Amino acid sequence: MSKRFYITTAIDYVNGQPHLGHAYEKVITDVIARARRSLGQEVFFLTGTDEHGQKVERAARAEGREPQAYCDELAARFQALTLKLNLSNDDFIRTTQPRHRAVVAALLNKLHAQGDIYKAPYRGWYSWKEETFLTDKDREPDGTFAPQWGEVTEIEEENWYFRMSRFQDWLIGHIEANPGFVRPDYRRNEVLGFLRTQKLDDLCISRPKARLSWGIPIPFAPDYVNYVWFDALTNYFSLPASLGDPVATAPLAGFYAAPEGAPGTELWPADVHVIGKDIVKFHAVYWPIMLQAAGVPLPRTVLVHGWWQKDGAKMSKTTGNVVDPIAVVDEWGADAFRYYVVRELAIGPDGNWTDAGFRARYAAELANGLGNLVNRSLSMLRRYRGGIVPARSDALAAEVTPIIESVRRDLLDFELQSALQRIWGLVNRANQYVDHTAPFKLAKDPAQAARLDEVLYNLVETCRLLGLLLWPFIPGSAEKIFSQLALPGAPNRLADAAWGGMNPGHPVGEPQPLFPRREATGP
Ligand code: ME8
Ligand code: MG
Repeated sequence: MSKRFYITTAIDYVNGQPHLGHAYEKVITDVIARARRSLGQEVFFLTGTDEHGQKVERAARAEGREPQAYCDELAARFQALTLKLNLSNDDFIRTTQPRHRAVVAALLNKLHAQGDIYKAPYRGWYSWKEETFLTDKDREPDGTFAPQWGEVTEIEEENWYFRMSRFQDWLIGHIEANPGFVRPDYRRNEVLGFLRTQKLDDLCISRPKARLSWGIPIPFAPDYVNYVWFDALTNYFSLPASLGDPVATAPLAGFYAAPEGAPGTELWPADVHVIGKDIVKFHAVYWPIMLQAAGVPLPRTVLVHGWWQKDGAKMSKTTGNVVDPIAVVDEWGADAFRYYVVRELAIGPDGNWTDAGFRARYAAELANGLGNLVNRSLSMLRRYRGGIVPARSDALAAEVTPIIESVRRDLLDFELQSALQRIWGLVNRANQYVDHTAPFKLAKDPAQAARLDEVLYNLVETCRLLGLLLWPFIPGSAEKIFSQLALPGAPNRLADAAWGGMNPGHPVGEPQPLFPRREATGP
């Protein structure tokens, strides 16, 4: 066995229902995972839920529920979303699972045993209402704390700290030496700017159980639970360790043993952590330091995406300005959702969802663009040639081949939006080719039979290539293209995307609308 390409998403807080941001991140990660598989790599794609901590405990209590029962229900919603979105994840981790908790405990024990975790008193201003410590930054201009914080008193409590500060220079060096560690570049520069100008403190990694009980107990200090971010970040590593990955388990020797019979799947180090822009510091500062301290090799890339708004405003449950990804998928299909979010927004900048924009892309690019091309190519082949692929012709080959090469490069480079733009360049070119060659006219003139064969071959071969190129993005539709072409298997081998793969004499199947045209609804 050899190491797989290991890609992860952030694990979602279960303090509410899955939203557009969650769904977007999972889709782009799935596209990258499928692309790598299609390119011949062995891939492991992990996603999951972040279930401990104050946010989740409060959400549970607000509903009068026990946290575990509440988490079980919400985690099921997030798991259902992975199916709705047609994600190809290989596992789904929940931080309340014993397989995860055991590794968090082992990591804490190791860091404690080697002197990287210590106990110290902390004095600070505490908001009893919001259950959080405040700093001078939270003060009003007149020096008081705003009424939103309720009663604020100075308290002192002992806590456990992780010696993070001593890694500051090392981390700067690591990020400088590894330009691909944080992507895109402007996020990397933000991290470097932060590290060069602000002194890193040690990280408080405990919460007294008296204040917060919903967490993983600190194994050497049973009156405390682990800070939720230490717990959550560890998910990326606990899964490989629990599978007995030798690179993940070796640094934990003496503190952890993988379950009997674990398969030993080789995953670590992670190749890509896909996350949103609000949690860069946790992933590009805390996480590499935790791993370095524990003697664990570092992940290769933290890939940071932007945030979605709806109609130019922040999404918020309270104002009702939200996009419910499940409702969109139920109405339009998973592929329409997947296509829109990837096509609309590159990985990096912020995006804006509008229902009108969604419908416009659906109509123009999916229904009238791709759907129409496949439909008329197959219909004409059946009408004029009994559905039998004619002799090979390479009329479009010289145009198509460089597009395939560029898409391949884009996929490896996480340039998913660019890949779709190129692929639609091909869709549009092929539709234009139909309009220019006018096969319906050629069909009326027996002297043009060879020319018609040529046109039909180029169209049907382009459809086959589109199935292969589109599979990472819209796998359900790509599979439909292949089945309508009566090609065996799934379009999941990008190596097959070379001109001329469609065999003359092959009988194609029946066309079915890929993206049914829809009446515009609403005002
Ligand atoms: O941060 N647009 O969980 P979370 C795009 N549990 N992405 C968005 C978004 C939006 N409007 N809103 C949120 C957490 N996200 C932690 C992660 S990882 C060890 C722990 C993204 O449910 C957000 O940036 O608040 C993050 O990557 C993911 O959704 C989960 O957010
Ligand atoms: Mg959040």
